[in-house]
Parts: sequence; C-alpha cells; structure tokens
Amino acid sequence: MCGIFGIVKEHEGPLGETLVGAARRLAYRGYDSVGCATIDESGKIDLRKDVGKIDEVNERLNFSEMRGQRGIVQLRWATFGSPSYDNAQPHLDSDGDLVGVHNGNIVNHVSLRDGFIAEGMTVRSANDGESIVHAVEHYVDRGDTMLDAIRAAAQDLQGDYALIIASNDVAGGDGALHAVKSGSGLVVGIADGATCVSSDLPSILPITNRIIRLQDGEMVSLWHDRVELRRLSDGEIIERETEVFTEGMDAAEKGGYAHFMEKEIHEQPKAAAELIHWLSASPFVPQFLDSLSSAKHLYFVGCGTSYHACMIGAAYFNRISGIPAIPVLAPQFTETLAPILSPDDTVVFVSQSGETKDVLNALKAVRPTGAKVLGVLNVIGSALMHLSDHYLPLACGYEISVPATKTFLNQVVLFLYLADKLRVHGQKIDWNAIPDIIEQTLVSTKEGAREAASILNPYDEMYYLGYGLTLGVAMEGALKLKEITYAHCEGMLSSEFKHGPLSAVQDGYPILFVTAPNDAAMMVNHINEVACRGGHPIAIACEDGLLRKHVSEYISLPDVDQEIATLLAVLPLQLISYYMSIERGIDPDFPRNLSKTLTVD
Ligand code: M6R
Repeated sequence: MCGIFGIVKEHEGPLGETLVGAARRLAYRGYDSVGCATIDESGKIDLRKDVGKIDEVNERLNFSEMRGQRGIVQLRWATFGSPSYDNAQPHLDSDGDLVGVHNGNIVNHVSLRDGFIAEGMTVRSANDGESIVHAVEHYVDRGDTMLDAIRAAAQDLQGDYALIIASNDVAGGDGALHAVKSGSGLVVGIADGATCVSSDLPSILPITNRIIRLQDGEMVSLWHDRVELRRLSDGEIIERETEVFTEGMDAAEKGGYAHFMEKEIHEQPKAAAELIHWLSASPFVPQFLDSLSSAKHLYFVGCGTSYHACMIGAAYFNRISGIPAIPVLAPQFTETLAPILSPDDTVVFVSQSGETKDVLNALKAVRPTGAKVLGVLNVIGSALMHLSDHYLPLACGYEISVPATKTFLNQVVLFLYLADKLRVHGQKIDWNAIPDIIEQTLVSTKEGAREAASILNPYDEMYYLGYGLTLGVAMEGALKLKEITYAHCEGMLSSEFKHGPLSAVQDGYPILFVTAPNDAAMMVNHINEVACRGGHPIAIACEDGLLRKHVSEYISLPDVDQEIATLLAVLPLQLISYYMSIERGIDPDFPRNLSKTLTVD
C-alpha cells in the first residue's frame, strides 16, 4: 500500500530531510521504491527516485540535500508495473511542468494511457500513478486552471486513490500543492509557516498536531499559510474546523485501534475493495486463468493460514468452476507430489510473505519437472514473486500483526474471483457489493464474537467444526485462536467429530460450528450429537430457523449464498481470537515463539 506526503513552506529552503523523515514514518505501510520531488520558488522541479529502501536510495541519490518551497515524497508498493526506476513515483507530465504522486489504484489506467499516447503525450512508465499526471495535463493543455483541471481529471480516474499534484507555473499564481481524496486516506496538517498533506497521520505528527481529515470526493489546495477544501463535483468551498490530535505516535500508527491486529481486521473491507478493483483491471488475470483452466493436474500449495486459503480456494474451484484442484501443505507436496509432476501440471504457491522456506522448497522441487509455477503473494519483491512464472498480488498493504487476517481474506477473495471467472455452476458474483457486505459483517458480528470469546475463555482446549466449504474456515479460526490465546483448538470436519473426539464432550463443553446455508441441515445432525451430550454448541451461520433451535449461541451472518457466507465466516472467528487474546492479557500482535516470516525448515 503506497504512502504519499507533501509540504508547502513560505520560502525556498532545505526540504530533503523533512521528506525523508516523512517517508520513514510511512514505511510501515510497505514499499519497494521511493521518490522525492521539490519545486523551488522559480518553479524548477528536482525529481529523484529509485527502487530500494529509503536509506539506501537516499545514500545514492542524496534526497537529504534537496531544497525547495514545495516538496512531495512517495513510497511505492508495486501493483501496476514491476518495481523499477520508470514505475517509481513521482511522475512528470510530458513537458515536465506537472509533478504528481498517488496511492491506491487507478483501475482504468490502461485505457487512459492509450488515450494519452494517442493525444501525443509522453508516457514513460507502466505505472497507474503516471495516469493522474497526464489526466490533469490533458485539461491544463485545454486551457483549464489547475483547480478545474484537477476536478475534471478526477472524473476520468476510476478506482480508489488519493493524489498530490503540483505545477511549476509559479507565474500563473498557483504556487500550491493540490490533493484529492477518492477512496484512499488523506489528512492535512496545519503548522506555523507550513502546511502538509499525507495518506496517514504518522508522517504529519512530527510537524503539527493540528489536522483536517478529508472525505471522499473532496480536494484540498495548500499554500504555506492556508488551505482550501473543495467538493470535487461542483468546486464549492467546504468549511471544516481544524481538529487537534492529542494522542501519541503509537496511537496514530494503529489508526486509533488498540492493536495492529484489530486495525488490520477492520481494514478488510478496504483491502478487499482494492484487490477486486485491481483484479478487474489487471492484464495478468487472463494469463493466470489460462494456466489454471488448461492444467492437467492443479495444486494449491501453502502453509499455515495460506494453506487454509488453499483449502477454501480448491473447494471453490471444484464446485464453481468444475476444475479439480487439490490443496496440499507445502512440505508434504515436496515429499509426495512434486516428484511425479509433468509439464502439463500447474502449481499455485500461496504465501503472504512470499518468503516461507517450506513454500520455496516445494517450488524448487517443482522446477525440474517443467510444471507451471504461479504465485499468490502480498509482499512485492519477495522470493516467490521472482521465482514464479506469473504472480498475482494480494494488494493488502503491509500486514504488521503476526496473525494473518487481511491477507487471508484477500487470498480467499482472490480464489473466489478466479473461480467465478471460470464459473460453470451457479450465478456470477456481484463483486461491487462484496466490500460493503464484509463491512456489514464486521459490524453485525462484533457483539456475538465478544460473547463467544467470554464463553470460550475458561477453556484451554476446544473444537471448531466446519463442513464442505467451511472446513478451511473452521481450521483457520482454530489456528488463529491457537496463535494468540495459547489455548488448543482443533479445526476439523464436523462429520468426523463422532469418529473419536466426541468423547471430549461433557456438560457445558463449548463447540463452535461454522456453517454455510446449503449445509445447515447436515450440520444440525452434527450439532445434535454434541448437544444431547451436554455440549454447548455455538453457530456461525446465515440466519436459519432450524439451526437456531439447536444451538446455545448464534452469530448471524448476512443473508448471502454458500460461497460468500464461507468468506464472511472468518470475520467473527478473527474477532473471537482477538477478544480472547485481550481477555488473557496477551499481545495479539506479537504472540510468543512466532514470527511473521518463517525462513527456516
Ligand atoms: O507468509 P506465509 O503466508 O507463507 O506464511 C505461512 C504461515 O507461516 C502463516 O500463515 C502463519 O500460519 C500465520 N502466522 C498465520 O496467522
């Protein structure tokens, strides 16, 4: 997830250190490239950018020495276009008169770009951020003022994004920075003798704690001594009071949440929206689909949480696309299936970090067989990205908390999206509706999750049971609980429970059942086997009268179909683990003995 920051001062002076400092404060969002631009009082633009970490690029390009009256810095997390000098931001317009940065995704950038090239503009990169500069250039060339050009350009740019742009035309009286919020975060800072704007508070707080938060569909123009907010639609000025942010940096980095895990759980609607936008515009999806649909044998391979996404993904493929896909744990794949692959086979490796050694071992074992290697990963620039024939990013931004939450949800969203593209059974999904349904589920299941956490908390061993599509969800919920509560929780197939574990059930023993609508009738049998022995069944399911009659607690999901219910069911499970972890006094972000990236055998 990229980060942007811009600052305007009264007079030209050293700006480099301020920009580098802001970049460091945005680095927690994750990035692969960094770039700065400054504009001096005469309008001269100094632009420096490259792939790499802030400090190493600074050492090479000496951002610290940059001077100017206005400055912009951007950290890029590659989605459109690989990490490279050209794709790094900021970008210039054709003649080098405008300079701009963005974060988020411009999903129609391919068609926009064709239009810019046809108009004779100089397009230098494959990055969607360049489109924002040319979109404004298009209207400036027509004679519009910067303000009008930006408002008009914003109508042409589709996707979720925030942008900062400036012109070198100081003679035209526009010595300002302009910023637009359309789906991604944007905060303005008001200091003495300077104003600034950024995708996030941490880069602003060292400069000022007087802030203004922008809403979607708004733009702001910044001069050193004032800012003007406007509605994008009609250009009307918006009056908004400055607020004083009184909490510390730690609170700012956690976005007001107590832990990164809580923040990342609540970022899921946004992360899913960004992924869906990205997938709908990506030229890589058709290549991926070809390899999936033409495979003789298709395997989904991962570890831990990513493996659970593989289980659900395979179930989606089998049911929706009629394509048999087999989920396998990476080390087991290395030992059993990798040696017998053929060039007609396809293996999809799934890893948030893209660095998990068990996954990379399996990938290396596949290479000599000639089978196709696809990657699904969150960390751009990771080993998995480099070693795959094709890869798709999860577009979640940096996930700090050790327990994977938003990356898991997006892995499942990605599999469902691909299965839906290859659908032979059932109805196509309305993807535009999904982020709101995720949001609604987080809100509506919160209280039930809190109660369930209190019911489970006295126990140190328990079961989560799923059936069909929801087996992988139950296993993921159980893993999450183990990771951050230190209780033992086994996720398993509900119909298997009677084959042994049923002996654990006694009075009050809680068992959680995760059910999707078509499996409710079967699940009632499995619930009864527990309930009639004094167990305390808890259900996570869409509303179902029969199911409700048979359980002690019910966490109700929105009224959706089998495939979407599966996706949503993980949300209350994440919340239960989080609340129980807090009740036990454990820091869910950094549970004992665990690491975010496992680079050992
Ligand atoms: O980076 P990866 O997705 O390859 O990581 C695999 C597992 O180590 C990881 O999912 C682990 O289980 C998480 N901590 C789960 O929250």
